[in-house]
Amino acid sequence: MSYSYSQAVEASLERVGELGVDPTAHVYKRLFAANPQMEALFWRDESGAIKGEMLARVFAAILDFVGERRYADHLIGTELVNHEGFDVPREVFATFFAVVRDTLRELLGADWSAGTEAAWAGMLADIDRFVVQAARPKAVA
Ligand code: HEM
Repeated sequence: MSYSYSQAVEASLERVGELGVDPTAHVYKRLFAANPQMEALFWRDESGAIKGEMLARVFAAILDFVGERRYADHLIGTELVNHEGFDVPREVFATFFAVVRDTLRELLGADWSAGTEAAWAGMLADIDRFVVQAARPKAVA
């Protein structure tokens, strides 16, 4: 399965890999600048491994979301609920994908084209629909 944005989103993730830059520190710096109260929630993460693992899982979910979509839509729903257990509000959880987009835009510089921008906008709009669906209380049968 492929969506209008699949190729450009994949290419942007590949490009960061080619640059040999680890985006982890950049992503979390941006996240904590926008949401300072989130930093303390990573108190167990002394080595940085949890942040790295979470970002790796988000990248994998993005690749699945733009590709076969075998699990990413469900993962977003279940992690949204799991993260409430970590005191991450749903509204903040939902912003993480845009934080990743903003970070990649910064890191890719001139390699970030208008097409890349449009592709990410399309994907984020689709992801938002799953967040909203997951956040909606289940109808009583
Ligand atoms: C701003 C949004 C987010 C915040 C503040 C946040 C925060 C956290 C925190 C504090 C932990 C560590 C919990 C612990 O002490 O073990 C964690 C773990 C995790 N998060 Fe997030 N999260 C966010 C968004 C996301 C998203 C969008 C996903 C994926 C859909 C995700 C996937 C995960 C996973 C898989 C782990 C477990 C990592 C591990 O294996 O240790 N998170 N998150």
